[in-house]
Amino acid sequence: MKVKTTYVCQNCGMQSPKWVGKCSGCGEWNSYVEELVEKKSNKSLSSSSNKALSKPLKIREISTEQTERINTSNNELDRVLGGGIVPGSLTLIGGEPGIGKSTLVLQLALHMKKNIFYVSGEESVQQIKLRANRLSKEDSDCLLVSETSLEKILLHLDNINPDIVVIDSIQTVATDTIESATGSVGQIRECTSRLMRYAKENSVAVILIGHITKDGHIAGPKILEHMVDTVLQFEGDQNYMYRILRSVKNRYGSTSEIGIYEMNNTGLREVSNPSELLLSDRDDMLSGGAVAATIEGVRPILIEVQALVSSAAYGTPQRSATGFDLRRLNMLLAVLEKRVGFRLAVKDVFLNLAGGIKVNDPAIDLAVVMSILSSNVDIAIERNVCFAGEVGLSGEIRSVSKIDQRIAEAEKLGFKEIFIPANNLKGVDISKFKIKVHQAKKVADVFRSLFS
Ligand code: TYD
Ligand code: MG
Repeated sequence: MKVKTTYVCQNCGMQSPKWVGKCSGCGEWNSYVEELVEKKSNKSLSSSSNKALSKPLKIREISTEQTERINTSNNELDRVLGGGIVPGSLTLIGGEPGIGKSTLVLQLALHMKKNIFYVSGEESVQQIKLRANRLSKEDSDCLLVSETSLEKILLHLDNINPDIVVIDSIQTVATDTIESATGSVGQIRECTSRLMRYAKENSVAVILIGHITKDGHIAGPKILEHMVDTVLQFEGDQNYMYRILRSVKNRYGSTSEIGIYEMNNTGLREVSNPSELLLSDRDDMLSGGAVAATIEGVRPILIEVQALVSSAAYGTPQRSATGFDLRRLNMLLAVLEKRVGFRLAVKDVFLNLAGGIKVNDPAIDLAVVMSILSSNVDIAIERNVCFAGEVGLSGEIRSVSKIDQRIAEAEKLGFKEIFIPANNLKGVDISKFKIKVHQAKKVADVFRSLFS
């Protein structure tokens, strides 16, 4: 049987039998992607298809037993997934090349007591075996194959009947029903939808690995995000050992979770107490350092913020931020200038979060501001003080969520004082804490109690 494909403009839906560079319908460039033409059957939807029709159920009649989860033996991953892998789910792990995606899934495959089938289109089975030797001393029954043809992979799957399938990577798999090159949008989309069907029909968990580039543009995971059940992003900086696994989309759990790993020569180590790692190098007190009590997902993490403020050597002062939004830094500097009266407009300001970590929690603001002021007056902040609070446009410190968890984590890590927003303690009993809690209304108040 000959299958037909057609090229479809992803912008306006116009079709063409051949690839064209510019769409004659909407004028968009490079928008044509090869797609399979669905065979229209002449028989109307009658007797034969009626059997295949699934019966609509009342919501209270539906049992949730199918969502039993498979424990992955990896606590960080389990938490990011929302408690383990769901059978029949399609999970995409995206990340830049070399970040450690293959290492992560191979480690799972080696440690899980499940029937796992690892398909690699990137490495030979010998290469994978060498890597497995580095990662684990024990022998494993995980099945490996080096294959890129989707049809052959599906045949293997029929023979093996695994619990979990890993496809490393979706960009290297191709089906011969589509003529587009391996890795093209058409191929990736078709292969993913076939694997999706396999996962749902057989209740097998499928894990896809996908590469993205820094800007996330290259064909791949971006277009898959709406097709799959769960999207995990593996990120980090080649120069740091930390790797962060972030849930970007999750049909079976929350998307605010992160998992933290450390890459060392025996693979990825789970970091169950990230604060200790991120605060480890703080032996001497230097100006410009301040610790923020942040929350990532449901987990409190203490992070050191470092700032360097110096007189601008050239006309225009430089501002740069690593791990923190540059626009937000500029906003905070404007607040300090206008509302608190610090002359920072003529200064270079460099900001850095320790360990190459990225933080979105607004509660980090107060530590950012204090690290900048500390560097500016060149007075170090005591090592056992930390901060949590969002800074508003008038220099006021605004309430943040989960304040009790932040305080508890700071206390646990041996901090003696924490500055938090005034009136943030409603319903929180602070008598149970030994740490000294300062409630502050304005940035200027905190500045005064620290530096004068
Ligand atoms: P890899 O899992 O191949 O990345 P990806 O699949 O995302 O492209 O990881 C490659 C990097 O990890 C490589 O630069 C070497 C490093 N690495 C270690 O540092 N320790 C290890 O034990 C392993 C297996 C890899
Ligand atoms: Mg890889």
